[in-house]
Amino acid sequence: MQPRASLALAPTLARPRTTDPENTSTAAPDGATMLPIIEAHEVTKRYQLGRTSVEALRGVTMAVEAGEFVALMGPSGSGKSTLLQLLGGLDRPTSGRVVFEGRDISRLSDSKATRLRRERTGFVFQAFNLIPLLSVEENIALPFAIGGQPGTRRDWNDRVRQVIELVELQGKERHRPDQLSQGEQQRVAVARALVTRPSVLLADEPTGNLDYTNSGELLDALWRSCQEEGQTIVLVTHDARAAAYADRVLVIGDGRISDEIVLGRRADHSAAPLIARLAQIGL
Ligand SMILES: Nc1ncnc2c1ncn2[C@@H]1O[C@H](COP(=O)(O)OP(=O)(O)O)[C@@H](O)[C@H]1O
Ligand SMILES: [Mg+2]
Repeated sequence: MQPRASLALAPTLARPRTTDPENTSTAAPDGATMLPIIEAHEVTKRYQLGRTSVEALRGVTMAVEAGEFVALMGPSGSGKSTLLQLLGGLDRPTSGRVVFEGRDISRLSDSKATRLRRERTGFVFQAFNLIPLLSVEENIALPFAIGGQPGTRRDWNDRVRQVIELVELQGKERHRPDQLSQGEQQRVAVARALVTRPSVLLADEPTGNLDYTNSGELLDALWRSCQEEGQTIVLVTHDARAAAYADRVLVIGDGRISDEIVLGRRADHSAAPLIARLAQIGL
């Protein structure tokens, strides 16, 4: 096993961040206080199934800062997807608070929650959820077609081209989903989630249906959005290779955050240091 010191991976690329769990706000360079994008305070979630209930989350407190790439890892059934849904306003906690850009979203009405999701978040799931009859560029432009987005048609077209480059699908703009590989389809889903420049991209096992090469290409695209556009990302995965792209890994076990592994921003995404750290905490 590697010595602990070699695993304390300092950020090699400059970026402000805090690791103080008591104080979740970050001091911006000008001295002003920058709010985290998302905070969860003592969040619990209980699912009622007839007369039995499942405690999916048992008190989660965490924060994600602007520009940060955070991975949520944990075994199947540990509450990862539940937490991601609460962070993005797809569902409400049983108790506790979720604060999104300074605003408590735990008790939002359905219509306000829908607006928040549409305007401020981008979701990517294991299933690609593309519209089969639409081309790549039409699928990506869908959030603009739905409406509520600022800008002119020209701005939208420029942005669609930009995200197509970001996910490296130039030349495939007019293909339909069935004319793409699985990995390309998932990169369309990522581009569609990013096209509106959401405050946060929430991805739930996005590489779950992809082979090794396609997973790598997808993770590289997420990384570029983070590195080049300052995109904030929360990635749920049980795959150490995927989590190794993150700045910070939160480990969930049995509905609670059991560990935090700070990897720091770095261009090398080798999973070995993370795997060694996970081994140290018995995962
Ligand atoms: N809609 C639901 N209804 C009832 N139980 C659920 C629901 N969603 C998740 N659960 C349960 O909550 C627990 C956590 O699930 P989940 O958040 O999906 O875990 P993970 O994503 O880590 O696999 C599991 O026991 C799961 O069966
Ligand atoms: Mg899940």
